[in-house]
Amino acid sequence: MTDRNSAQANDLPRAWSANAAEARLSHQVPVIEPSVRPREGIRIPKIAIDVFWDSPQVAASLDRMAVDRVMSGARVNLRQGGIAAAIDHYEQAPTPNLVVVESRSSASAFLVELDRLAEVCDAGTKVLAIGHINDIVFYRGLLERGVSDYMLAPVDPVAVIEGISRIYGDGNAEKLGQVYAFIGAKGGSGSSTIAHNVAWTIARRFSSGVVLADMDLPFGTASLDFNVDQGQGVAEAIKDIGRLDSVLFDRLLMKCRDNLSLLSAPAELNSHYDLEERTVERLLEVAQSSVPFVILDMPHLWTKWSRNTLVSADEIVITATPDLASLRNARNLVDILRQARPHDPPPKLVLNQVGVPKRPEIKPDDFAKALQLQPLAVIPFEASQFGTAANKGQMIADVSTKGQASKAIGLIAEALTGRQEQKSSPRKLFGLGSLLTGLRRKSGGGSAKKAT
Ligand SMILES: Nc1ncnc2c1ncn2[C@@H]1O[C@H](COP(=O)(O)OP(=O)(O)OP(=O)(O)O)[C@@H](O)[C@H]1O
Ligand SMILES: [Mg+2]
Repeated sequence: MTDRNSAQANDLPRAWSANAAEARLSHQVPVIEPSVRPREGIRIPKIAIDVFWDSPQVAASLDRMAVDRVMSGARVNLRQGGIAAAIDHYEQAPTPNLVVVESRSSASAFLVELDRLAEVCDAGTKVLAIGHINDIVFYRGLLERGVSDYMLAPVDPVAVIEGISRIYGDGNAEKLGQVYAFIGAKGGSGSSTIAHNVAWTIARRFSSGVVLADMDLPFGTASLDFNVDQGQGVAEAIKDIGRLDSVLFDRLLMKCRDNLSLLSAPAELNSHYDLEERTVERLLEVAQSSVPFVILDMPHLWTKWSRNTLVSADEIVITATPDLASLRNARNLVDILRQARPHDPPPKLVLNQVGVPKRPEIKPDDFAKALQLQPLAVIPFEASQFGTAANKGQMIADVSTKGQASKAIGLIAEALTGRQEQKSSPRKLFGLGSLLTGLRRKSGGGSAKKAT
């Protein structure tokens, strides 16, 4: 509350209009449907947040905000009573990092309430205000009081999260890597193969640093697929998670190809691997601060850590084969992830090993209808291509760049990253064409001569 200049002009809420008259919307606030969109670069630090809501609609939005996956590190307390309740509360109690207060008061009363709140707030506590007043003079009053952001009710839960992320944005958020988790709907679907190929495609196509973490500790195949030494990667990283930092993390990585490193699974059965949720969380924190892309090759299992890792990932790819067991499992996975990630797009679906000769299969259209999810890619069963790649420790693109599988893998990489492969620009091609024409002219041959 002490930093009076922290609210920036671009913090203005979307619905802000400088000419709008001051309006007290009181009880007729419509409930707002939360946005569902990818939220790259949004990170909420491990802070304590107190919320004092005043209207039921704002309470409903803030409730949804509090349970969003990106808020999992923050401690959020919701209380009724608006600014008045906040003032009462902090007369006795210390203030948290951030106070979110709603008020339905008029502009002048709101500013008076904020002044009283400032008197009981500790230095360093930030305030995000939510109100029902759309007026530029009032907004200037908020800025003068050091309010970090103001949002006009009704509020979208995702917009509040974005607001909090902006308040704590220190320019590092963009540098945190994206996490893409790959899981099979049932064992042997081809999830690992697709994860490895997508990891390699991202590294090669976009010249971006990628870490592939093989989370299938007893049986992982990433080191076989890249034909590199086994190593202890993940096992060593989590052995004493407290000492894991970026230096140790880098040391445990095995370079596979340009821009692609592997945190390999030990793939041995002398130990047992009961992963702790917090351990995996810390591993991902370090990985994300090291590279732009972290690909998680998840085992086909459902434990607390595997569930929570999927829920917290930026994107999830479910690989399913076109049979009944895969359909049931994929449906369960999609349902639970939709529920746990209400503000994120649904997981991405890849149908794999489609068209095994003589095998009765569920048609891709029927599969999609049952899941209410269009597959991002349908990959045919290609025994020779996949068998050669697996046994020689190669990628699918090493075996064939033209096949459907190779194209599908490129498509998955582009859909996840939102990036497109850079094709040579037409201008450059034109330049080369005129150069060739020039050469032909000089040599006295070619069409230029014929035309004369
Ligand atoms: N489209 C395909 N056509 C033919 N074979 C495939 C195809 N996709 C994957 N395979 C093969 O299927 C086998 C299983 O693949 P993979 O290990 O990637 O599956 P998974 O889902 O990760 O299995 P697990 O449950 O063991 O983790 C491998 O031998 C792989 O080469
Ligand atoms: Mg696997």
